[in-house]
Amino acid sequence: MSEPLLDLEDLRISFPAGPERLNAVRGLDLRIGAGETLCLVGESGCGKSLTAMSLMGLLPREAQVGAGRFRLLGRDMARARPRDWAGLRGRGLSMIFQDPMTSLNPVLGVGRQLTEGVIATGGLSRAAAEARAVELLERVGIARAASRLGQYPHQFSGGQRQRLMIAMALMSRPRLLIADEPTTALDVTIQAQILRLLAELQRDLGLGLLLITHDLGVVAAIADRVAVMYAGRIVETGPAADIFNAPAHPYTRGLMAAIPVPGRTPRGALLPAIPGRVPGLTGRLEGCAFRERCSVAVPACAVRAPQPAGAHRTECHLATEAAP
Ligand SMILES: Nc1ncnc2c1ncn2[C@@H]1O[C@H](COP(=O)(O)OP(=O)(O)O)[C@@H](O)[C@H]1O
Ligand SMILES: [Mg+2]
Repeated sequence: MSEPLLDLEDLRISFPAGPERLNAVRGLDLRIGAGETLCLVGESGCGKSLTAMSLMGLLPREAQVGAGRFRLLGRDMARARPRDWAGLRGRGLSMIFQDPMTSLNPVLGVGRQLTEGVIATGGLSRAAAEARAVELLERVGIARAASRLGQYPHQFSGGQRQRLMIAMALMSRPRLLIADEPTTALDVTIQAQILRLLAELQRDLGLGLLLITHDLGVVAAIADRVAVMYAGRIVETGPAADIFNAPAHPYTRGLMAAIPVPGRTPRGALLPAIPGRVPGLTGRLEGCAFRERCSVAVPACAVRAPQPAGAHRTECHLATEAAP
């Protein structure tokens, strides 16, 4: 088997918090194979965006990051410096952010924004870069693309701007694309169009895709595998069908409660609210972080459960006993 695009073991991300540390990501394992779509789900504040940013070398300066294994596109990035990250970002690794307006430069023509990266780092001529930009703009559904290269972001609608962002992310012909809630800033019908486009591109281009989303309907429609994150750890991961048909962790079951069926789950079906809230992440967090909110917790949950090996893994003492 060829090496996965992403191979992460025991990722830890923390921040200074007075005399202690805030441990936002607390030992996370993640793998994505070539051409595979992994959806990362979990409530707000669980560390999804930090995980994504760490994969781009874009964590805030005050973040401290460590990992037992940190391989991206076949390279060891455990001790990568800014220059190493810049090299990877232009070559094989791209990200689509939540809000296109914060990523697009309002006073620069979109043609320039699409092409300047590949001209600088990809060694493309201006003409070749513009030809690729036109091709990608048409691919993402922007008509008469050649005539629009000279326009500015405000001359595009919100949905079109997110299409621009997708085209921009694809300019460097990435093998791994990271999309962090790429449609939250858009209205619902546009969201569905953009996500359908992303799924099509993933398939046509054979991209590895890490998609962070709140929309379980989308997860059911496009994920090969799902990773469920809670308080800085992956509490359950496995093939999408297993996660939907036989969620094993009580947290996953809470998330999936309303909408358990791939293919039948409507788009726009959001994560349901689970009573209680994510625990504070400052200092050491012993045992299962979900146990305060868990209706089936037992005293053993004060110690973290081992994660057995296998394609479908759950970090819960009760995973089998509590299964429906
Ligand atoms: N720059 C920062 N400084 C301190 N704490 C941070 C910073 N960024 C994020 N955090 C902490 O990390 C947690 C996880 O953040 P984030 O990855 O954005 O969550 P998610 O994307 O799952 O909503 C947040 O709840 C917050 O406590
Ligand atoms: Mg986030």
